[in-house]
Amino acid sequence: MQKSRILVCDDESSIRSALFRALEKRGHHVLTASCISEAESLTSGGQSIDLLLVDIRLPDGDGLEFMAKLQKTHHCQSIVMTGFGSIDNAIEATKRGAFHYVTKPFNIDEVLALTDKALESKRLSLENKLLRQQLHEKYKFENIIGQSEAIMKVFELIEIVADSNSTVLITGESGTGKELIAKAIHYNSSRASKLMVPVNCGAIPGELLESELFGHVRGAFTGAISNRQGRFEIANDGTIFLDEIGDMSPNLQVKILRVLQERRFEAVGSTKPIEVDVRIIAATNKDLEKAVLDKSFREDLFYRLNVIPIKVPALRDRKSDIPLLINHFITQFNELKKRDIQGFDRDALEVLMEYNWPGNVRELENLIERLVILKGRGVIGVYDLPERYQQKTNVALNPDKVTVPEKGLDFNSAVDNFENALIMQALERTSWNRNKAANLLNLNRTTLVEKIKKKGLIPPDRSV
Ligand SMILES: Nc1ncnc2c1ncn2[C@@H]1O[C@H](COP(=O)(O)OP(=O)(O)OP(=O)(O)O)[C@@H](O)[C@H]1O
Ligand SMILES: [Mg+2]
Repeated sequence: MQKSRILVCDDESSIRSALFRALEKRGHHVLTASCISEAESLTSGGQSIDLLLVDIRLPDGDGLEFMAKLQKTHHCQSIVMTGFGSIDNAIEATKRGAFHYVTKPFNIDEVLALTDKALESKRLSLENKLLRQQLHEKYKFENIIGQSEAIMKVFELIEIVADSNSTVLITGESGTGKELIAKAIHYNSSRASKLMVPVNCGAIPGELLESELFGHVRGAFTGAISNRQGRFEIANDGTIFLDEIGDMSPNLQVKILRVLQERRFEAVGSTKPIEVDVRIIAATNKDLEKAVLDKSFREDLFYRLNVIPIKVPALRDRKSDIPLLINHFITQFNELKKRDIQGFDRDALEVLMEYNWPGNVRELENLIERLVILKGRGVIGVYDLPERYQQKTNVALNPDKVTVPEKGLDFNSAVDNFENALIMQALERTSWNRNKAANLLNLNRTTLVEKIKKKGLIPPDRSV
C-alpha cells in the first residue's frame, strides 16, 4: 500500500512527537509543524498531503482557517484536536470540512483508528470521483476518428465483441489508440453503467501490483495498516483493463491465469477466496507471440487472453486517416486553447503524409496541440513544423534528388523554398542564434539577417 503523507500541526512538542512516532510506526510519512507559518512552508512546495492533524489554537493563528485553506489546495482529510473541548468547536470544525474532532488529552489508539478511517474515506472519495468522471465521459465510436479500411475492421470487431463477455487482447504500437478502443468496448457493452478499472501493469512495481490487483488484509506486510480492496474486486460487474500486460512479472502471470480460469482469487495475506464477475480487456505494445517464444510470457496465459485479438494498425499503415485526424485535433485544440487555426497548406500536409509517425496518433495529437498554441491563427506551413518533420522536405530539395514535375514549376518560388528550408533549419538548430546559424551556412551574419528580414522568417514562439 502506498505510504500516506500526514501533517501534524500542534504547538505542544509532546503531542507532535507522540503522533510522529505512532504514525511513522504505522508506515506513514509524517511531517510536523509547531505553528501555522511552519506548516505553510512545509506544504507550499506542491507535495501532496493526505491527512492533516491540527490543533485549533496555534501561536500564530486559527487552526481551522489553516485547515480550510489546506483542504482546498491539497484535497486532504483533516482531524481537529483541541484542548478546549466544546460543542461549538466541534460543530465549527465539521462545518468547515473536518473529518473528525478529538479533545485533548486523547488516547493515541483512538486517534490512530480515526486516521485509518479518514485515509480510507479519502481513498473512497477518489474512487467515487473516478466513477462519476467516467460516467460523464462518452466513449462512443465518435471519439475514434478514422475511415480507412484498416480502422473500419477494428470498428466492426468492437461492435461484434462489445456485448459479449469474452476476454479481449488489444495489441498495437504505442499511441495507436489501444486505451480508446478498450473504453469503446466497455462503454458499448451491457456493463457500461459499471466501472472500467484500469491497471497499468508496467508502471506499478511487482510487489505492489499484486496487492493493487487482488487487495490485501491488514498486517499482510509492513505498511498494510488496514484491509484494502483490490482492483479486481472494485471492477466487479464491470471491466478491468490490464494495460501493458506484456510487462507483468512471471509470478503475477500465474496469478492472473488463475483468475482468468476460475474468476476467483485471494487477497494478499488471506486464504479466503473472493469471487468476481469481471470482463477482462488486456493491452500491450509488445509482440506477445515473440515473448512466448523467448519464454518471457506464459504460453497458457497468452491463449487465455487472446480469445478475441484486436490488432490496432499503426498510423503509417492508414495514412488516409491523417487529414481526418488533423481536422479533428485542430477543431478540438482551437476550442480548448481559444485559437483560430484554419488548417495546413498543401506542402505542410504533404510532409505530414510522408512522415512515418513512430509515435502514431499520440504524436500527431501532440504536434497539432503545439502548432495550434504557437501559431495561434491562420494557416500552418512547412516552416511552422518542427525540424524533425521538415527533414523529408530537405531531402526532396536536395539538388541530386530534385525532379521537375510533369506540369512544370515556378522556378523562383522553388529556389526561395529551398533557401527558406536551409535557413530555418540552421536557425532552429542554433536556437535562433544568428551568428552560429550564419557560420553553419557559411554566410555573412549581415547577409543572413537581411534574408531573414526579407523573407519574414520568425521564431515559432513569436508567430502567435
Ligand atoms: N483514432 C483515434 N481518434 C482520435 N484520437 C485518437 C485515436 N487514436 C488515438 N487517439 C488519441 O491518441 C492518444 C493516444 O491513444 P491511447 O492512449 O489510446 O494509445 P495507446 O495505444 O494506449 O498508447 P500506449 O501504448 O502508449 O499506451 C490519446 O489521446 C487518444 O485520445
Ligand atoms: Mg495505453
